[in-house]
Order: sequence, then structure tokens, then C-alpha cells
Amino acid sequence: MYVCICKGITDNQIKDAVCGGATTLRKVRTQLGAMSQCGKCAVLTKEIVEDTLAQQDYNDAESVFYAVN
Ligand code: FES
Repeated sequence: MYVCICKGITDNQIKDAVCGGATTLRKVRTQLGAMSQCGKCAVLTKEIVEDTLAQQDYNDAESVFYAVN
């Protein structure tokens, strides 16, 4: 799904950027260019970044759980 129409950026590109280390909105903007023109994609981009980080935390916690057992 396109999130940033101005730059043609999809939700998957944002998720990949977050998984690749762009863990803040500033880093996502620098890396992909999202939110760099009209800014209308900022709210949805923020949600995707937060959801991706939360999913990573869940996966990390699950890894620790299995490592202990
Ligand atoms: S929609 Fe992303 S900067 Fe305009």
C-alpha cells in the first residue's frame, strides 16, 4: 500500500527500513524521503514505524524466552 504519494513509498518499504535500522521517524525520512514534501503521510508513517518496532520487541522477547528454555 502506498503511504507517501509524493515519493511513492509503500508500507513495506517503511517496514524494511525500520528492520534495517531506521528506528525513528527522522531516520525513515532521511533514508526514504517520506514526510519530506507535503507531510500528509507523517501520521501513517509513524504508526507503521511504531507497529514494526513493537513487533520486533515481541519477536526479540520470544527469542529470549526460547533461549532460556
Ligand atoms: S505524501 Fe508523503 S510527503 Fe506528501
